[in-house]
Amino acid sequence: MPTVRFMPFDRTIECAGDEPILSTVLSRGFFLRYGCKHGGCGTCKVLVTDGDVEDTGSSFALSHAERSAGWALVCSSRPLSDCVIDISAMDLSEEDFLAGDQVEAFETVVERVTDLTPTIRGVTLRLVNPPTMRFTAGQFVNVEVPGTDNVRAFSMANAPSVNSEIELIVRLFPGGQFSEYLKHAVKGQMVRVFGPVGSLRMRLSYRRILMIAGGSGMAPLLSMLTDLSQKEDRRPVTVFFGARTCDELYYIDRLKELCGLAAQSEFVPVVEHAGEAWEGERGLVTEAIARRMSSLRGYDAYLCGPPPMVDAARELVVQLGVREANVHFDAFVPTGTVGLSARAG
Ligand code: FES
Repeated sequence: MPTVRFMPFDRTIECAGDEPILSTVLSRGFFLRYGCKHGGCGTCKVLVTDGDVEDTGSSFALSHAERSAGWALVCSSRPLSDCVIDISAMDLSEEDFLAGDQVEAFETVVERVTDLTPTIRGVTLRLVNPPTMRFTAGQFVNVEVPGTDNVRAFSMANAPSVNSEIELIVRLFPGGQFSEYLKHAVKGQMVRVFGPVGSLRMRLSYRRILMIAGGSGMAPLLSMLTDLSQKEDRRPVTVFFGARTCDELYYIDRLKELCGLAAQSEFVPVVEHAGEAWEGERGLVTEAIARRMSSLRGYDAYLCGPPPMVDAARELVVQLGVREANVHFDAFVPTGTVGLSARAG
């Protein structure tokens, strides 16, 4: 059986060649960061420094260039030989690695479902057992669709300071299992969630912050913005929020207020198909950024939304001067549907 040596902790684990490395590591009582577990989110990215693995994850979560440079997704990789894997990018302490999987199952109940737009719902779940969840702004949970074994990933939109509820932003998909459930969801119904998962989080730095969201992708960024304001972190933030039509924008007042707290901060809604009355930016969110920002040197960028938007925004912000290492993003590819987003709208 091939062995995998995990650096920098220098621990070697036997990993069957027919099982994803992540599953083996978790079942042996160790921990690696993960999110979707099916090669769609990029959370479990590691650097293979010796040996070979076969990685079947999506090319969105890991580009061909990254794969050629030795990066792999442990949730969808099997070892083809003895390997050495550097997990430094996961930013785990040795204690975290040795502590095993800390992701928990939570029983929650539906507190409210509100219409944010014709196609986006705000869903608040109250935690029952355990009654609180510790998470970092930017993380997400896997929500079990009631009556099925299937889960859907949604980021928390609330800040971690509110730890007895989780607030989700859900785009409705015609015929989607969770969308159908929400049509009839009533207060008090039990919903199981698993989490928290994901590695998107605000990095401490002296740089200015650029946030770019599309559709329901505003959720993790809203959590981070609220967290920043509660911690009185006054780094300048520029938030671009893209929508196809004016009625697809939501939480505008909340976002304006959060962006108004720090000097030189700005909130820029961008509408692709706007009526004549719209006085704001028009077109794609990337077009608005290109018009308004001549240089993004000295910025950290946080992107969340549909994969094509995140892809285009990643390319643009790097062209405008953001270092690759300072671009952080969150986009999801659902099981068996490479190229589409499960939760970003
Ligand atoms: Fe591996 Fe999502 S957990 S890509």
